[in-house]
Amino acid sequence: MFFTATTQFGLEEVLAAELRQLGATIEHLGSRAVEFSGDKRLLYQTILWSRTAMRLLRPFADFDASNEQALYDAVSALDWRKYIGPGQTFAITAVVSRSWSEHSLYLAQLTKDAIVDQFRARTGERPSIDTRHPDIRIHLRMLENEVILSLDAAGDSLHRRGYRQATNEAPLNEVLAAGLVLLSDWDQKSPLLDPMCGSATILTEAGLLAQRIAPGLLHQGRFGFESWADFDADLWAQVRAEAQAQRLSEPQAQLFGSDIDPRVIEQAQLNVAAAGLTDCISLTVADVRDARPPEGFSSGIVLTNPPYGERLGDEAEMDALYKTIGDALKTNFQGYEAYIFTGNLAAAKRIGLKATRRVPLFNGAIDCRLLRFELYGGSRRVGSATAPHPPSPPLQKRGGN
Ligand SMILES: C[S@@+](CC[C@H](N)C(=O)[O-])C[C@H]1O[C@@H](n2cnc3c(N)ncnc32)[C@H](O)[C@@H]1O
Repeated sequence: MFFTATTQFGLEEVLAAELRQLGATIEHLGSRAVEFSGDKRLLYQTILWSRTAMRLLRPFADFDASNEQALYDAVSALDWRKYIGPGQTFAITAVVSRSWSEHSLYLAQLTKDAIVDQFRARTGERPSIDTRHPDIRIHLRMLENEVILSLDAAGDSLHRRGYRQATNEAPLNEVLAAGLVLLSDWDQKSPLLDPMCGSATILTEAGLLAQRIAPGLLHQGRFGFESWADFDADLWAQVRAEAQAQRLSEPQAQLFGSDIDPRVIEQAQLNVAAAGLTDCISLTVADVRDARPPEGFSSGIVLTNPPYGERLGDEAEMDALYKTIGDALKTNFQGYEAYIFTGNLAAAKRIGLKATRRVPLFNGAIDCRLLRFELYGGSRRVGSATAPHPPSPPLQKRGGN
């Protein structure tokens, strides 16, 4: 069977590595998508285990449609009884670019009409549409008039893990947060700190990873594939039981979060509790300037997503904040590696450290970078060319205690 997993820009390689680890054969690495093949067990495992897949699609038709009539005819030519069973509800999600119509809602409507007309002509009855919780979600993608129709295996975007209880102003997408953790060199044992943690998405994703919790186990409600004609309930129960058994109950790593805003820390606590990670993640109210590593750990990871300051007039405030971040890292976190995920590259210069890695990513429509800084004993500062650079020490990875 062939599948397409979609993801966020910049996480394609991370997703492909996850899929390979699950046993998939990678067929093609695209932009925001990875095509792969495998069996039904792999599909079920991917739904449960992938941290960086957004949608998981099973393509079943591919055709050219250069106008409205061509799309209607091609959709009508398919036998929809194979995909939508008696009494099942369905919905269409359309994504379109560089085609005769750029209106995804219109294309979804046209496709829906062709399907409904076919059922009505055959049986006299029409299946019901349920755009929020359909039994079967069909995904239509049109690129340069080429249409691919797929069944959406999850039925929803997998970034909706089910642990988010409350939303602060700018929470990171869970898939993106998991991607940041996987892009970092974190060994899943050393301390990981987020001193501007907001709703604690980064820490929650890190906790799920360290505790070997399959994110799909947190999902509430049914997945799309559970309504497919070929759904294998026994296999699904088996794959779920295997995933449950992998979960580690003893905390594997120390995870620390802080934020200057007490309200977001309250929200973060709710999210962390909903993910079952209260024993693994400590949260406090603090200014980033006061962030310190936990006692007894001379190495670890700082991974944080500071504000970007999107409003006009925020420049001076952002410059000062990023300078404070840089000062705190240099003074308090020697021996650590820091990862700053930001869409404000001008302010990021105020950190005053040379990034040893810059990974291009997007946060929604905002062009971002994940910047890595290595915090040596005598920190390497921008412009300190006269100071001799100490030799790069091998990254010290330490156990959790
Ligand atoms: C972009 S949000 C982080 C969102 C977070 N990654 C999430 O998923 O919810 C930035 C956070 O930095 C916090 N913040 C701003 N200035 C701070 C400071 N001086 N010290 C600590 N936290 C600060 C804000 O309260 C906000 O929650």
